[in-house]
Amino acid sequence: MTDAVTIRDLFYDYPDGRSALAGVDLRVAAGETMGIVGPNGAGKTTLLLHLNGILTGRGVINICGMRMEKRNLKAIRRTVGLVFQDPDDQLFSATVFDDVAFGPLNMDLAPDEVAYRAREALRQVQMSGYEQNSPHHLSFGERKRAAIATILSMDPEILVLDEPTSNLDPRQRRNLIGLLHGITVTKIIASHDLGMIAELCGRTALLNGGRIIAVGETAAILGDRELMEANGLETPPGLLLRCQS
Ligand SMILES: Nc1ncnc2c1ncn2[C@@H]1O[C@H](COP(=O)(O)OP(=O)(O)OP(=O)(O)O)[C@@H](O)[C@H]1O
Ligand SMILES: [Mg+2]
Repeated sequence: MTDAVTIRDLFYDYPDGRSALAGVDLRVAAGETMGIVGPNGAGKTTLLLHLNGILTGRGVINICGMRMEKRNLKAIRRTVGLVFQDPDDQLFSATVFDDVAFGPLNMDLAPDEVAYRAREALRQVQMSGYEQNSPHHLSFGERKRAAIATILSMDPEILVLDEPTSNLDPRQRRNLIGLLHGITVTKIIASHDLGMIAELCGRTALLNGGRIIAVGETAAILGDRELMEANGLETPPGLLLRCQS
């Protein structure tokens, strides 16, 4: 099976000198959904920001056979759709529609295809009717869903999501899990929402201190109480039992 993503020996220090990734190795197969868990400051967001070249560390990254380097950046950014942890990093237009249409517009699609994709993505996150609203006047959860729509509208081959369920109410969280379940592309999802990780991710990597501590079947990782606790995490009792059964 071809890898959708291969990361080898990735190191990254922020400009202030803080080491955020300290030798990450990870392979994600085409079509799989990989969870990334780890305590605050583990390096999850830093790692995801490397997958479409927003950050550039030392090491090797391959995306669908393309080496992460300047000449491949445009093609890689068309392949990897990254939903940021903070929706305010994703929304910058005057209207929700313009934000969600921005990606398809830049893919040189016909205007009616652009409009169709934007409307369809908003429908998927249950944001139909908000097309003409200003993103700045939405609630945080609504902004989160609009930010997810800006990526869904581009129909990326690899979907990378940083805390997609944070601040969603229970019904919207459930809706998003169902939606992601139905999207069969390669997905990489970083989250503290372990229930969502357990539902969606076949394998999970545990990151701490900028290193992959463990990677394996999600139930094996989340069901390993000692491993989780040693890394500042805790699988809720009901979920722990399900992972261990
Ligand atoms: N812009 C920055 N400048 C300097 N250090 C940073 C910056 N962003 C993150 N860091 C540091 O890098 C480390 C990794 O941060 P990162 O945001 O990747 O963690 P995370 O696993 O996503 O955490 P969280 O669960 O809180 O989202 C942390 O120690 C953090 O303080
Ligand atoms: Mg983060």
